[in-house]
Amino acid sequence: MKNMRDDLESILYTEEALAEVVKQLGARISEDYQDKNLLIVGILKGSMVFMADLMRQITIPCDIDFLAVSSYGSGVKSSGEVRVLKDLDSKLEGKDLLLIEDILDSGTTLSYIKRMLSTRKPASVRICTLLDKPERRKTDIKADYVGLTVPNAFIVGYGLDYDQKYRNLPFIAVLKPEIYC
Ligand code: IMP
Ligand code: MG
Repeated sequence: MKNMRDDLESILYTEEALAEVVKQLGARISEDYQDKNLLIVGILKGSMVFMADLMRQITIPCDIDFLAVSSYGSGVKSSGEVRVLKDLDSKLEGKDLLLIEDILDSGTTLSYIKRMLSTRKPASVRICTLLDKPERRKTDIKADYVGLTVPNAFIVGYGLDYDQKYRNLPFIAVLKPEIYC
């Protein structure tokens, strides 16, 4: 039987470590948005596992929506082109938007999305990313909430993929370079 674990170099964050980080983010967001009109927007597909855990750690009322974009193809580097595959269902006017991302890498994807959504007159737009790889940034975008700052390695699991695989690992791991080289 195939085992995804054979393709991994090391485990970077365990399920328990991730749960603690997500709990703390949920508490901060609940505190900061208590008098606001919070709409959390998951950027598909990478954020789905993080979003599902984070929303259950948010204790104030909030709406949820999803935006599907594609910028990667099957490589490990961003193509630099962002395509909207599924737009939001919600009207944004007056909403306090919190964009939920799995990882902020070059910043191309989030810069594009933030610019696009800001034209729809939300009350505010902020970013919450589980992981931040600041070494790789090519734009001046910053996340307002960061779970963990990660080294410059290609990582998978907990929603993050390589060529659409490994999203279902319950932890975050470094992929063996021979898998994508
Ligand atoms: P950016 O536009 O370069 O910031 O890319 C952001 C997107 O690239 C994320 O939402 C991920 O889907 C993907 N990505 C960036 N780094 C990694 C990684 O190390 N593993 C898996 N996906 C990644
Ligand atoms: Mg991805």
